Amino acid sequence: MAATFSSISLFRRPWLVMFLTLALILHLSMASDSTSCNGSEREALLGLKASFFPPNETIEGVEDLDSWKGLNCCDWEGVECHNTTYHVVGLNLSSLRSNANLQSENFDANLLTPLEQLQYLVLSNNKLGGELPVEEISSLKHLYWLDLSKNSFEGKIPEEIDQLLSLRHLNLSNNQLQGRLPESLGNISSLQFLSLSTNQLQGTIPLSFANLSLLKDLDLEDNQLEGTIPPIFDKLRYLEHLNLSRNDFSGNFSFSMLANHPNLTIVNLSHNNKLVILQTNDTPAFQLVELDLSYSDMSKYDLSVPGFLSNQKTLSKLLLAYSNLSGSIPPWVLGASHNWLYLHGNMFTGQLVLPPTPTDLLKLDLSNNRLSGELPKEYHSFFPHLSEINVSGNVLTGNVASYLHAFQGLDMLDLSVNKISGNLPLELSLNLLFLDLTNNQVTGNLPASITYGNRLRALWLSNNHLTGPLLSENFNLLQLESLRLDGNSFSGTIPKNLFLRIPSLKVLNIRNNNFSGSIPVELEELSNLQVLILRENRFEDGLPVMCMVKRLTILDLSRNNLRESIPPCFQNISSWVQNSGPSLESLNSTRIGTETSYREVVSFTKGNNYDYFGLTLSLMTGIDLSQNQLQGHIPTELGLLKGLIVLNISNNHLTGSIPASFDQLRRIEVLDLSNNKLEGRIPPQLVLLYSLSTFSVANNNLSGVVPNGFQFSTFSESSYHGNPGLCGFMGKPCSTTLPPSEVNEDEEEDSIWEKDNLVLYAVIAMGFIVGFWGVLAFFFLNMKWRTLCFETMDRSISSLSLRGKSRGYSSFSSSGVTSYSVLGK
Ligand SMILES: *[C@@H]1O[C@H](CO)[C@@H](O)[C@H](O)[C@H]1NC(C)=O
Ligand SMILES: *[C@@H]1O[C@H](CO)[C@@H](O)[C@H](O)[C@H]1NC(C)=O
Ligand SMILES: *[C@@H]1O[C@H](CO)[C@@H](O)[C@H](O)[C@H]1NC(C)=O
Ligand SMILES: *[C@@H]1O[C@H](CO)[C@@H](O)[C@H](O)[C@H]1NC(C)=O
Ligand SMILES: *[C@@H]1O[C@H](CO)[C@@H](O)[C@H](O)[C@H]1NC(C)=O
Ligand SMILES: *[C@@H]1O[C@H](CO)[C@@H](O)[C@H](O)[C@H]1NC(C)=O
Ligand SMILES: *[C@@H]1O[C@H](CO)[C@@H](O)[C@H](O)[C@H]1NC(C)=O
Ligand SMILES: *[C@@H]1O[C@H](CO)[C@@H](O)[C@H](O)[C@H]1NC(C)=O
Ligand SMILES: *[C@@H]1O[C@H](CO)[C@@H](O)[C@H](O)[C@H]1NC(C)=O
Ligand SMILES: *[C@@H]1O[C@H](CO)[C@@H](O)[C@H](O)[C@H]1NC(C)=O
Ligand SMILES: *[C@@H]1O[C@H](CO)[C@@H](O)[C@H](O)[C@H]1NC(C)=O
Ligand SMILES: *[C@@H]1O[C@H](CO)[C@@H](O)[C@H](O)[C@H]1NC(C)=O
Repeated sequence: MAATFSSISLFRRPWLVMFLTLALILHLSMASDSTSCNGSEREALLGLKASFFPPNETIEGVEDLDSWKGLNCCDWEGVECHNTTYHVVGLNLSSLRSNANLQSENFDANLLTPLEQLQYLVLSNNKLGGELPVEEISSLKHLYWLDLSKNSFEGKIPEEIDQLLSLRHLNLSNNQLQGRLPESLGNISSLQFLSLSTNQLQGTIPLSFANLSLLKDLDLEDNQLEGTIPPIFDKLRYLEHLNLSRNDFSGNFSFSMLANHPNLTIVNLSHNNKLVILQTNDTPAFQLVELDLSYSDMSKYDLSVPGFLSNQKTLSKLLLAYSNLSGSIPPWVLGASHNWLYLHGNMFTGQLVLPPTPTDLLKLDLSNNRLSGELPKEYHSFFPHLSEINVSGNVLTGNVASYLHAFQGLDMLDLSVNKISGNLPLELSLNLLFLDLTNNQVTGNLPASITYGNRLRALWLSNNHLTGPLLSENFNLLQLESLRLDGNSFSGTIPKNLFLRIPSLKVLNIRNNNFSGSIPVELEELSNLQVLILRENRFEDGLPVMCMVKRLTILDLSRNNLRESIPPCFQNISSWVQNSGPSLESLNSTRIGTETSYREVVSFTKGNNYDYFGLTLSLMTGIDLSQNQLQGHIPTELGLLKGLIVLNISNNHLTGSIPASFDQLRRIEVLDLSNNKLEGRIPPQLVLLYSLSTFSVANNNLSGVVPNGFQFSTFSESSYHGNPGLCGFMGKPCSTTLPPSEVNEDEEEDSIWEKDNLVLYAVIAMGFIVGFWGVLAFFFLNMKWRTLCFETMDRSISSLSLRGKSRGYSSFSSSGVTSYSVLGK
């Protein structure tokens, strides 16, 4: 009755319906706000926030949890509450403090205590340090997921870890944990995921692990664990992933131990080079997807006996590199994996074999074995999906054309370091990104088939017997970044428009051929060029005025017939002018596909021939113009190349004096000016080149006193010989009376000294501070030489120290300078 009445009266008053509805909504929303978050839990979260982000600091790369304000903490980012009780059950604060410059901070886990209902806690990648807060966390009785990975926790994993009894997922990877694995870990019987990878854990795997019967994922990668792999697997029937790579395990390992594990899919035992993998002939219950036994010891394993491996039908990656395998490769192995098959770095012999039936392999690496013979004719039809093959470092023979024909559709083909011969094919439509034929016996000309109309990024044909000229009409490689034709017998001139057809080039190496004529000015068009090596050819005329090639880091034109003078405009090349070293696109390894990459190697003179590759290459800068017939003066502007590490202009016909501006070459390590016709003094300011390790001015017409101090006291007589007018070095002390002309020169140079005094004083002071022990060493080692010529050897230094107004200062400054170089060695 009453209900009927009220509903009728409500229908008569629609505004009242609206009002009541609004009130209800308002009430509900307020209610949810007030009940949604437990106050003490909210306080705990705010405490946590404050401990993560000290209030005064605003740091880049730090997420500052902006959403953490207001009353409803269940809405805060990374916080999850229970649907009905609104207790905080989940907290995910990963990567909030991931800035590389942040210091790691000890973590106060007591802040978590009020969050009694917490079920999962993720604090990965936050620069947290200190001991593992196991005791504090153990008060969280409902916790089943704990991820403290990628922090700086240190010390041992405490025995009390088994107080975290309900854990299903424990991730402590990427910390600095040490010591043995505690036995008590075996008590956490609910554990399904255990990752302790990338720590410094030692000792053996505890037998108690045999009790972790629910374990699916065991990841102990990258520690210092040792001993045999114990028989813990019997009860671990749910095991799916086993990763024990990069440890020091030894003894025998047999896959029989895992034979009853139907769900096992990934096994990685790689990088345990004392671990002996035994033959297993059981038929295990598992079908693996990935198996990595690289860098283990499979010398007892006989692949020709089809063991458990040949029953694996779902393998997508089979990696057996550098694992002491030998004999011939049984054909079934080539069919054993669907995506990747790595067999490199073993001692396989015999011919390249075909799989029993065509495979769907994508990547095949057979490099660095002892495979011989020719390529089977029908090879490519057995690998219809192959995108990369590497057979480098074998003794393969046969005609290059058949290899190129078989693999023309690939992304990457590495045939280097074999005995492959024959001419490059005239017609072929290659689709390669990367072709390496280095160190073979390939003959003939460079035909359009490999230099025209394709997507090639790197073409390496070094050290073959290729001949003939380069024809620009053959070239059309818009993507080409690296061209290496060094160590062949190519001849003729470089066509003017060649460079226009390879505009993306970063590395050009045509060293040691018979190219002649002048170097085309069109080189300027190669705006990405970083490395140019034209050494050991017969190029003549002038140096190209390539001052627009701004990214050049290595220029080697030595051993040609270049005449004329050195252009003054090198200071336009930014990588040579930067004081801090080149900030380059790195050449360490250039990706040219999803998986493919190639590594650039450049041989460049630094004292001795030295191979720069990868990262070192992108840190190297240098100019080598030696052994030409260059004339004229050394341009003063060369002194502006503050980023230069090697400057070799020896064995030319250069005249004039050594520019005093060379004191600006602050990164220079090799300076070779020998065998020219240079005159005048060696500028005394050169003592400021404290990175210098190789210096020669031998066989010029230089005169006067050689600089002394820093590195200069380490150079021997051979740096200076063949200059009748030079004195003041080990082999030739100066006589006490100097010719009058020299005195005038000195006065001129004093004014130069004036400019540099501040720098010099600073350096001297530094030398003194750094060199206290060096001072002793100096007095001890150099006593004889000092008594011989200290008084007269360098008037500049002593006049400088006289300005310091005391004789004591003099001896201290020059020994300070010298001691620095003693230490610097
Ligand atoms: C918050 O949670 C704690 C523990 O679960 C409980 O003791 C306390 O009464 C709760 N406070 C409120 C305001 O609900
Ligand atoms: C933060 O600022 C307050 C007041 O400005 C100051 O008292 C406190 O020492 C500062 N804390 C830190 C860690 O700098
Ligand atoms: C909470 O909600 C999620 C999804 O909305 C649901 O899967 C879960 O079962 C709920 N939990 C409870 C305790 O109601
Ligand atoms: C935690 O958050 C990160 C980033 O938001 C996410 O990738 C990750 O899956 C989350 N983890 C859990 C256990 O919720
Ligand atoms: C453990 O943490 C690391 C680093 O955060 C992560 O890469 C890995 O996938 C995690 N392992 C498991 C089993 O969750
Ligand atoms: C936990 O493990 C240790 C060592 O393995 C053992 O001594 C102890 O009895 C175990 N504790 C429980 C509660 O199972
Ligand atoms: C496994 O657990 C049982 C019962 O908790 C215990 O008696 C046994 O010692 C444990 N085994 C190992 C190897 O720790
Ligand atoms: C293997 O995995 C399946 C499906 O995930 C599961 O049903 C089965 O219980 C697992 N068996 C074992 C022995 O782990
Ligand atoms: C070890 O292998 C497992 C299984 O593939 C994988 O989940 C884990 O990320 C690997 N660990 C590391 C540190 O790569
Ligand atoms: C196995 O582990 C090594 C190093 O720990 C890693 O480099 C390799 O990629 C892993 N293998 C697979 C198949 O993931
Ligand atoms: C390893 O296995 C080989 C051959 O199967 C056996 O001769 C040798 O005794 C085993 N070594 C150990 C330490 O068990
Ligand atoms: C080159 O090496 C550096 C440092 O090892 C790395 O950070 C960078 O990604 C590498 N570059 C390429 C293109 O692989």
